[in-house]
Amino acid sequence: MTKKSKYILVTGGAGYIGGHMAGMLLEEGYRVVIFDNLSTGVKTWVAKGAEFVKGDLCNIDDCRKVFKKYPIDAVTHFAARIVVPESVAEPVMYYRNNVGGTLNLLQAMDEAKVRKIVFSSTAAIYGNPAKVPVVETAPDCPSNAYGASKFMVEDILRDAARAGRVEFIALRYFNVAGWDNRRAWPIKGRPVPTHLISNAMKALHDGGEMTVCGTDYKTHDGTGVRDFIYVVDLCKAHLLALKALDKGIRNESFNLGNGKGFSVLDVIKTAARVSGRPVPYKTGPRRPGDVMTLIASSAKAKKILGWQPVHDLTSILESEWARKR
Ligand SMILES: NC(=O)c1ccc[n+]([C@@H]2O[C@H](COP(=O)([O-])OP(=O)(O)OC[C@H]3O[C@@H](n4cnc5c(N)ncnc54)[C@H](O)[C@@H]3O)[C@@H](O)[C@H]2O)c1
Repeated sequence: MTKKSKYILVTGGAGYIGGHMAGMLLEEGYRVVIFDNLSTGVKTWVAKGAEFVKGDLCNIDDCRKVFKKYPIDAVTHFAARIVVPESVAEPVMYYRNNVGGTLNLLQAMDEAKVRKIVFSSTAAIYGNPAKVPVVETAPDCPSNAYGASKFMVEDILRDAARAGRVEFIALRYFNVAGWDNRRAWPIKGRPVPTHLISNAMKALHDGGEMTVCGTDYKTHDGTGVRDFIYVVDLCKAHLLALKALDKGIRNESFNLGNGKGFSVLDVIKTAARVSGRPVPYKTGPRRPGDVMTLIASSAKAKKILGWQPVHDLTSILESEWARKR
């Protein structure tokens, strides 16, 4: 089958990463169906040329309809609630959406005999890892309901794979940031950003202070340390994962990160250098569910998928700063 005739379902394709993925798949010649309930996604982020289905994973009939309407070859599954403190406050809602919604998706896939799925997992499954860079065999120890919901889905996928019902690749993203500015990404309609780099950009553009949450971690400057991965590099890993599934590489989880750690204050300093303006900030207490240091080893993705990120923190921040508002 040629790529041109392949239909890829992108759940959460009206969101930040799914929106980039849909655009990249179309450029690569795939046909793209986006399924999204627009709970945090934005209709104007739906890639031109993609089919859009408004639907909720928590409604199994919505899921079934997509597979009845389109001859889906593979699924890239981004749809989820993703805000750590919200997951601590609303764990049942997170499990219902992220785990319950995925169960509906898997059932609808099974009924339609669609087997291939690339799943958006997260570094949050590791909690506070004892060793960094963290490898895929490190114990899962999520420190919040968001991370736990993602690891539960990985467990479900492993069981379904053992039963021969799915062929999956789970990609465990570290902190994803940056924009592909060849497309416009309107701010309007999007819920208030919660991630560090979005908050720094908001402070730079709109004024007002951002809050640095936690200054008493055992890190070089007391603030949390994270590994940042450019969204375009990340989406390229999904293309490789889809190709790997076609080649029979399956039922594996891979970390996706740059392998370098930057503290919250390092990011603020880099944002100031890139923009030429100081980032206004204040300090506050740790956020519930946050961890101290997360840095990826992506050696497995490099070896098996042939994936190599090419963008660093500076180019991520340059793409953020260049985003039209
Ligand atoms: N952004 C990151 O740094 C990061 C890091 C690790 C993992 N991830 C994972 O990547 C995926 C995408 O994240 P994002 O940053 O693009 O978030 P996002 O909020 O921008 O996108 C999520 C999309 O899923 C949709 N959605 C949520 N629940 C749904 C449901 N029940 N039915 C249909 N659509 C639903 C939302 O409307 C939204 O468009 C998530 O699975 C997330 O866990 C993100």
